[in-house]
Amino acid sequence: MSVIKAINYAERNHNRFLEELKDLVSIPSISSDANHISDMKDCALFVKDAMTSIGFDRVEMMDSIGHPIIYGEWLGAPEAPTVLLYGHYDVQPVDPLELWDAPPFQPLVRDNRLYGRGTVDDKGQFYLHLKAMESWLLSTGELPVNVKVIIEGEEEVGSESLEPFLENNKEMLSADVAVISDTSMIKKGWPSITYGLRGIAYFQIDITGPSQDLHSGMFGGAVKNPIHALTEIIGKLKDEKGHILIPGLYDNVVELTEIERKAMSELPFDEEEFLKEVGAPQLSWEDGYTPLESLWCRPALDINGIWGGFSGEGSKTVIPSKAHAKLSIRLVPNQEPDTIGDLLESYIKEISPKDVTISIKRMHGGRPFLGDLSHPAFAAASRALEKGFGTKAVFIREGGSIPFVKNMTEQLNLPCLLLGFGLPGENAHAPNEWIDLDNYNLGTVSAIHLYKELSTL
Ligand code: BES
Ligand code: MN
Ligand code: MN
Repeated sequence: MSVIKAINYAERNHNRFLEELKDLVSIPSISSDANHISDMKDCALFVKDAMTSIGFDRVEMMDSIGHPIIYGEWLGAPEAPTVLLYGHYDVQPVDPLELWDAPPFQPLVRDNRLYGRGTVDDKGQFYLHLKAMESWLLSTGELPVNVKVIIEGEEEVGSESLEPFLENNKEMLSADVAVISDTSMIKKGWPSITYGLRGIAYFQIDITGPSQDLHSGMFGGAVKNPIHALTEIIGKLKDEKGHILIPGLYDNVVELTEIERKAMSELPFDEEEFLKEVGAPQLSWEDGYTPLESLWCRPALDINGIWGGFSGEGSKTVIPSKAHAKLSIRLVPNQEPDTIGDLLESYIKEISPKDVTISIKRMHGGRPFLGDLSHPAFAAASRALEKGFGTKAVFIREGGSIPFVKNMTEQLNLPCLLLGFGLPGENAHAPNEWIDLDNYNLGTVSAIHLYKELSTL
């Protein structure tokens, strides 16, 4: 059978697949950093060449307002369905650099793990799909399905160029099912299908008190301190029970069903292990829910950073002119980033002290996603993962966001399979990121099976 040919090919080439991933990881494609613009281009070219070398019919580097998008396709199976694969070649910044045990862009194998920035998020995960496609194409001369692939370079900064790209290229991108590997398995040995992601709305708050810094002896007590104003506002955003106090915020939140809660309670989520990984004295979640439910299915508001005033050595008696915070809210179905922005803005206006001026800047947003498990693509994915890993797949939701998913499924009217081969402890976005090499290989084999299973849709 041809699937055996493809799997044998993958097994024979398994060392080369790892070496190629190392080359990809060694390109410092940090999308948020203007100093890395030419690395972004190099990385895009690497991806383009990777698609060309596995025998795609068409490969293009498409300019966008931001970093280039790579599009490739192989459409040699006119009777079969079409799969749209999405991934991202950009990575997060690496600081604090001193906490890395080895340089982030000099990938290193240790303990059956590949270390390096982007190994799991998302270079290793999309690359294994290209290698699965190669395994089909170069061992049998064909794939069981048509494939279209978009690998973008702005996911870690909000995927803003993708919306116009999608609008302008609907025909080119039309497909029967989307596949993304950019999520996690719930636990090693538990292949997982993610059917829900949270969305995100990101803001910066800038508060100005006096027009310049003031002597706190000459003015303190008679002038509002903007840092106090900021902390007063922040203090009113959430109560002690983890409930967000912005009026209307929960209006469109879809409640969990009892069936879903039961299914989630049966997953191998180990609270102790999770706490150990977090390293905090204890967990803190929303009253009335379990930690996992809070993490996957409930909105969460976080202050990502706060700054202002004097924080140097020694002391300085000053009333600062300005105070700032970055704030993000993770969204769940059916919350919309724009609506949430309106609600946050009017609430802050209402509660903010009148003796300072406030500006709220809306940064990127991404919509939440919830898949319809009754679509046969999910059963096909489940069979593929079971064949690849030798054990039954579980269905999970996750707390992270992939901004493009909801828009893509809506605009192209297709189901989306999020098949993650990452593990929760792999330090995505943190120092010493790694990917488990068993998962890199089993992920490749599962993807080979997936294209076969999807051919019968
Ligand atoms: N791969 C992650 C998304 C993810 C993480 C999904 C964990 C499921 C579990 C993605 O690269 C990411 O980091 N997304 C950002 C989006 C943001 C920058 C718009 C996120 O979730 O913070
Ligand atoms: Mn990612
Ligand atoms: Mn990421």
